[in-house]
Amino acid sequence: MPIKRWIPRSVKQAIKHRISEWRFNRAFTAFRRAPRRALSDRALLGELQRGWGNEAWAADTEYLEAVLERVLALRGPVLECGSGLSTLLVGALVESEGRDLWTLEHHPGWFERVRKQLNRYALHDTRLILAPLEDYGEFSWYRPPLEEMPGEFALVICDGPPGDTPGGRYGLLPVMRERLSATAEILLDDTARAAEAGIARRWGQESGACVTFLGRDNGFASIKFGG
Ligand SMILES: C[S@@+](CC[C@H](N)C(=O)[O-])C[C@H]1O[C@@H](n2cnc3c(N)ncnc32)[C@H](O)[C@@H]1O
Repeated sequence: MPIKRWIPRSVKQAIKHRISEWRFNRAFTAFRRAPRRALSDRALLGELQRGWGNEAWAADTEYLEAVLERVLALRGPVLECGSGLSTLLVGALVESEGRDLWTLEHHPGWFERVRKQLNRYALHDTRLILAPLEDYGEFSWYRPPLEEMPGEFALVICDGPPGDTPGGRYGLLPVMRERLSATAEILLDDTARAAEAGIARRWGQESGACVTFLGRDNGFASIKFGG
């Protein structure tokens, strides 16, 4: 009889968890050593995604590549809506350049998981904020600590709040518009879904920003101001 059958399920899960941790640690260390390499190394991004182990929810490879490329190309602070693997990767990048990342997360359990990982990798300057979702009337969105936040975000990584939030991700523009720089860019994930694609178009109509759908199946969109 195979020996695996004799191992209790809890022990198997603990071993699986340790292997994922080890895998993530190895890939994240390689990423920090040469972050630009990740842009042309899909195998490394794949290792990071598998090691992180939340593949149904984490950003996919195309979106992650676009995010990292914009973070490297643009100057100025970055705002992220919805935390996860992208928070660690972008946090490592912007901290190495002395820039700021502010990440809004509404879910206390998820916030705790990401916070622990930021601490583990000593990413102490990444501002992960527990920001509950608030009812703004027409939509719900995070309650950000505006009084502490920078005036001119250059880039927004918009991968939250989850799709079942009233109004979805729409609230970003009405709540944060005055905190975006004149030439800011929003990268909105999940525009293969009709609701997120509609939000991108609505932002374009309401602000005059240039909306471009990108990726396989128009999976994400760039909303660019000041074009
Ligand atoms: C699409 S996820 C953000 C993913 C992030 N950009 C990444 O690269 O991992 C958006 C939100 O979903 C929630 N979330 C993440 N993983 C989840 C899970 N496994 N189950 C339920 N909610 C989850 C969190 O609140 C998160 O802010």
